[in-house]
Amino acid sequence: MAGQIPQRFIDDLLGRVDVVEVVGERVQLKKAGRNYSGLCPFHQEKTPSFTVSADKQFYHCFGCGAHGNALRFLMEYDKLPFPEAVEQLAGRLGVEVPREGADDPRAQQREKKRKEGVNLLELAASFYRERLKMQEGQDAKQYLHERGLSSDVISDYGIGYAPGGWEALKQHLSERGISESVQIEYGLLIHREDTGRTYDRFRDRVMFPIRDLRGRTIAFGGRVMGDGQPKYLNSPETPVFHKGRELYGLYEARQASSRLEQLVMVEGYMDVVALAQYGIHNAVATLGTATTEDHLSRLFRLVGRVVFCFDGDRAGREAASRALETALPMMIDGREARFLFLPEGDDPDTLVRREGTEAFQDRVTCAMPLSEFLFEQAAQDRDLNTVEGRERFASRVLEALKKVPDGMLKSLMLEALAKRSGLTQEQLKELLEKRVEAAARQQQTRGEAVESSSAESSWPQSAPARPTVREQALSPVGRIVQLLLHEPGLVTSLPENDAWLPDSDGPEGSDVRLCRELLALLRAGRYRSPQVVLAHFQGSVEGSRLAEFAKRELLIPRSTRETELTGLVEHLKHLQRQQSPREEYEALLAQERHGQKLDKTQRQRLASLVMELSQRPH
Ligand code: UTP
Ligand code: MN
Repeated sequence: MAGQIPQRFIDDLLGRVDVVEVVGERVQLKKAGRNYSGLCPFHQEKTPSFTVSADKQFYHCFGCGAHGNALRFLMEYDKLPFPEAVEQLAGRLGVEVPREGADDPRAQQREKKRKEGVNLLELAASFYRERLKMQEGQDAKQYLHERGLSSDVISDYGIGYAPGGWEALKQHLSERGISESVQIEYGLLIHREDTGRTYDRFRDRVMFPIRDLRGRTIAFGGRVMGDGQPKYLNSPETPVFHKGRELYGLYEARQASSRLEQLVMVEGYMDVVALAQYGIHNAVATLGTATTEDHLSRLFRLVGRVVFCFDGDRAGREAASRALETALPMMIDGREARFLFLPEGDDPDTLVRREGTEAFQDRVTCAMPLSEFLFEQAAQDRDLNTVEGRERFASRVLEALKKVPDGMLKSLMLEALAKRSGLTQEQLKELLEKRVEAAARQQQTRGEAVESSSAESSWPQSAPARPTVREQALSPVGRIVQLLLHEPGLVTSLPENDAWLPDSDGPEGSDVRLCRELLALLRAGRYRSPQVVLAHFQGSVEGSRLAEFAKRELLIPRSTRETELTGLVEHLKHLQRQQSPREEYEALLAQERHGQKLDKTQRQRLASLVMELSQRPH
């Protein structure tokens, strides 16, 4: 990833933009004395409790506690990751965002490699686009027109054609000095182990470039024009492409409208482009995978409402119910999810062609709210006319509500559940609390087990606290990253320089580099929540590593985290002080050479070191 943005620059930026102006462009503000006030954009309210102070350069909501400076506002309101919010503010002033670490050779190397990959994919994309226009692309062009796509949509989505034959792209790229190994790494070339041959992955297919939020091509999907298999061939996972996170069409949707309010989640490439052809530019598709949490958090960072489209058949309902499970924990106030079930045998592509834009839009508008779908699912196979049926129904809904964050949706659903089940809201709340408590108790029992085991070991001489099975894979540095991620504020309890960090050339090199980057970030900014830290790294390799750390629970109580952290640092320092046998041997020899006599223990130690070293392979 690119280097850090220097804190000096951020401070300077915040000194030059006016928070009143930034907020005022998005929220209607009235002057009230020295401050400005308006309706809070972060929660529902009828009387204004949101204030913006020009003197102090921050906003504050007395209703929901939302609070921050211009940068924070952009991150929260425009749902931008940290670096992009900085870019936005800098853009207003017409200044370029500088990056640190430009002189760190390793960072440079990584950056160079990333650029090489991205350039390569860009080159491939334009190669495919060109071929579509040439004689050999005529069949593909015909195919696209038969599927109803205009030249505009083809060009907006950068659709192209991969020629038949085995080496068209390989030749094109190799002529431009790109090594085959890079072409293999980025999934364009296939390498057969048995024959050693290399050849184009995509041959005689219509090519859909998959782009990241900034429009850079990161992968491809290619469709056969006939009945060949597979129908769609996708790029494999590469350093820049992670299937479970990317969404096809997101960049194009953002290009089409700067103020997106909702996104429609469909299944396929063709659904996205067909909807665009009919003027519906806010559809995105997963890439042949189920909807993941990563997908949803990306979408909800951009818009408040997501409408899932599913086939009306059994498989579609099942997929919808999995999407529902994934969405539940993310439904904080201000977010909305809806479910649209299509007639059997249709997909958005066929439907919009048959019914037209308006009818499809109406279906989207009338899509089933999450709450209704949840009730429907819970009521399935239950007879709500019997007490028993109603109880089972209520218990299913409560099980789901357990996962929903406190807020409007939860209370509205409890209210609705009371009506439908005949139980009072008080009774339901009590039942829900019992469930939440039971879950917490389970969690706590696990936590206590870990705590008592860590009490046995004494820091820092011995190894880190005995890990639980799930934690076993973590190195001390990994554990430090995890602790800092879950509780960024702990950074203040660490030494000011990072001399205690092991060498990043070692076996845990990537975690060490990640740790160093994280430390620099936490020291520079006032990050206090894991989400904001994750947002900062979003989209990078480090980001996915951090997300893994974020998913692991800490399993130790807050009060002991700082002790564990400083203990780990002491442990690393201790390891550093220990010399390797060769270093020790050389130190002893040097001592002798300088005329200092070795004592008896030292002479014995030297002898055993000679033995030890002579038995080691060099
Ligand atoms: P579908 O089989 O529903 O195709 O796959 P489609 O989107 O309707 O495409 P057309 O209309 O026949 O051209 C839906 C999605 O599943 C993934 C692709 O992302 C596709 O868009 N898929 C499907 C694959 O990755 N590979 C396949 O072989 C098939
Ligand atoms: Mn289709």
